[in-house]
Amino acid sequence: MIETDFILSTVDASNTTDGSVTWRAPSNIALVKYWGKRDIQLPENTSISFTLDACFTVTTLAYTLKKDRPAQPDSASQDFNVTFYFEDKKKDDFKPKIFTFFKRIEQFVPFLKDFNFVIKSRNSFPHSSGIASSASSMSALALCIMSLEKEMNSGITDEYFYKKASFLARLGSGSACRSIIGDVNVWGNHNEIEGSSNIYGINFPYRFHKNFKNYQDTILVVDEGEKQISSSVGHQLMFNHPFAKQRFEQANENISKISKVLQSGDLKAFIAIVESEALSLHAMMMTSNPYFILMKPNTLKIIHKIWNFRAKSGSNICFTLDAGANVHVLFPENEKESVNNFILNELIQFCQENHYICDRIGKGAEQLSI
Ligand code: DP6
Repeated sequence: MIETDFILSTVDASNTTDGSVTWRAPSNIALVKYWGKRDIQLPENTSISFTLDACFTVTTLAYTLKKDRPAQPDSASQDFNVTFYFEDKKKDDFKPKIFTFFKRIEQFVPFLKDFNFVIKSRNSFPHSSGIASSASSMSALALCIMSLEKEMNSGITDEYFYKKASFLARLGSGSACRSIIGDVNVWGNHNEIEGSSNIYGINFPYRFHKNFKNYQDTILVVDEGEKQISSSVGHQLMFNHPFAKQRFEQANENISKISKVLQSGDLKAFIAIVESEALSLHAMMMTSNPYFILMKPNTLKIIHKIWNFRAKSGSNICFTLDAGANVHVLFPENEKESVNNFILNELIQFCQENHYICDRIGKGAEQLSI
């Protein structure tokens, strides 16, 4: 599908009854990383992620039709009307981000100015945990907007619903398009991944090996603070980055490799790709201009501990990092007991206030009836 397929041409909001819709959307952890984008939220390379289960956002979108909306709306004279609550507190400082998102998606969902919205959102993980919430929150909001579109346009197929939700979520935050449906997601056109696209995420289209079933991700919260450099600034620094071209090629090659590995179940090869990707991502940060480091001393201590434990025990434990200091510890479900003991005995000491979250591969977003 192409961008114009998502433009809603005829839509009549006037018969919509006031109501609300709630979606729970998960976070995800990239195995091959998206770092660098062009135009409006188009990735410079393909990325692939595990959908998470325990880390999610729940968003309720309540909508009431505006009474004073003119019959022939002149969109320039109309404003979006949104009241936003985060964890039951009214948060006006979140509104600019929502308005930027609404402006970007308006041409695809032209009914947004017909309604007054009250958006209520909460995360399963603490806001201060340093865990990025843009993927789960933008995905949950995009799904709510698609449910509203469906109210007006009940004929849309499930396939269209989820593809467009991913398309809209991408315009809010790139990685959010991989947080819609299914356990393993790919975003970005790749000639070896059938159906892959730059404008929305898709489910990994091949059967993945049972070794990855219920794969575990324990997130070690090394630093709960705000990051000094946001992901959006980091992405921008990939423009004119001296190693950008090689990095995008490397990532695309890693997609070919990991696609085979996910199907064959070769855990050693999986570890080599995933850890290399995490370190390449951070190497890009360290070689940006200006340069920056998001890892903390404890991030490195944990990595070395993991390497030692793996060498000694033969475990298939490995790590990945997102754009921050926290460490995602990945391991197969059948090693849960031994790895959990290792984490408790040797790694928790490096977490801020012993804070960690036990997560695993999840199934994707779900509509809630509340
Ligand atoms: C390191 O999706 O947060 O987590 O599109 O600007 O919102 P924006 O960026 P974002 O970047 C995620 C970067 C990453 C890697 C990844 O998830 O693929």
